[in-house]
Amino acid sequence: MKFSALSALTLAGSAEAALRFGCATLSIQRLDPLVQPGAIPSSHLHQIVGGNAFNATMTGDIGNQANCTTCTFSEDFSNYWTAVMYFRAPNGTYKRVPIMQNTALPNGINGGMTIYYTQQDFNSNGNQKITAFKPGFRMTVGSPSTSSLAAAEGHVGLRFVCLDTKGTRFPELPEFPSRPCKGGIMTVHHFPSCWDGVHLDSPDHQSHMYNTQGEAFSPAGPCPASHPVRMPQVAYETLWDTTIFADLWPADGSNPFVLSYNDAHGYGTHADYVFGWKGDALQRAMDSSCMFQGCENGKPLLSQSVTEMNKCAVESTVHEDIDGWVSELPGQAMPMV
Ligand SMILES: *[C@@H]1O[C@H](CO)[C@@H](O)[C@H](O)[C@H]1NC(C)=O
Ligand SMILES: *[C@@H]1O[C@H](CO)[C@@H](O)[C@H](O)[C@H]1NC(C)=O
Ligand SMILES: *[C@@H]1O[C@H](CO)[C@@H](O)[C@H](O)[C@H]1NC(C)=O
Repeated sequence: MKFSALSALTLAGSAEAALRFGCATLSIQRLDPLVQPGAIPSSHLHQIVGGNAFNATMTGDIGNQANCTTCTFSEDFSNYWTAVMYFRAPNGTYKRVPIMQNTALPNGINGGMTIYYTQQDFNSNGNQKITAFKPGFRMTVGSPSTSSLAAAEGHVGLRFVCLDTKGTRFPELPEFPSRPCKGGIMTVHHFPSCWDGVHLDSPDHQSHMYNTQGEAFSPAGPCPASHPVRMPQVAYETLWDTTIFADLWPADGSNPFVLSYNDAHGYGTHADYVFGWKGDALQRAMDSSCMFQGCENGKPLLSQSVTEMNKCAVESTVHEDIDGWVSELPGQAMPMV
């Protein structure tokens, strides 16, 4: 995996930092400050991790507004969120699929996600400066309105993995697995990493960014002139414990899982990001050569214990039943598909 010592020497300015860390669940509720700011509730249910400045409306430098974070790195007050997965029983009622913690993280993290900030790939910045996001930066990837397999295949980096164990990573599928998965289902969301250098956001929350990466964590291609600034490559992994429904798999073999905006194919899988690292913490990390847990304890990032991560939360401002056997998905009384 590692570049040879020779190529490392010839790449002046090379840095090899790669962050991988857990963030416990901060909240599961119908809010979407990026796509539907101010809406209480928003149209569909999200699982959110990160800093406690998360709210229906969020503006400015949230790295200076939050007081705690559910993430390992205690200077990371960013918010990260995705849709939630439900199981649809044969009688037509729904139950939320629990989120389980990933492998290779410290034990005891309450649900949540694994977050990655890599450079050109895990091992190298490709001799390019990796520029951290600026306060106020936000973006989305994917779209809940995606309705065909061909379009989903075109969304490089938005994938499902049928887990045998928590360590399974391949194959990556553009839609829900079509068979019961022994170890659960993982959703993966890779964000684009080429920035136009000007806009902290854009009307569609996407056009200020450009994607040059391939599938999985393969090295990204060069950024185009329209989006010349190489930023960290952000990725999320969420592990859904679908195994508790194994006995209820439909006899006709159809997939019983559905994403919270009523998507039984998974074509519309999407994710949201609001930057909120304090000060220059993310830039310092990207300029270093630390890797994974090696970045903790001030080398160069401040970190916290699992107990402290799990303690941080925000009160739900939307009050509705999301965890019983519900007759419709929260906010989805009129089925879209
Ligand atoms: C969230 O917004 C409400 C008003 O809509 C406000 O009362 C509350 O203090 C905010 N919470 C945080 C954590 O900023
Ligand atoms: C953080 O603490 C300050 C001071 O106690 C308080 O004013 C602010 O509302 C808190 N922010 C959040 C997001 O809880
Ligand atoms: C629907 O099926 C689930 C799973 O078998 C069961 O737990 C639930 O009580 C049923 N709900 C109704 C309204 O029959």
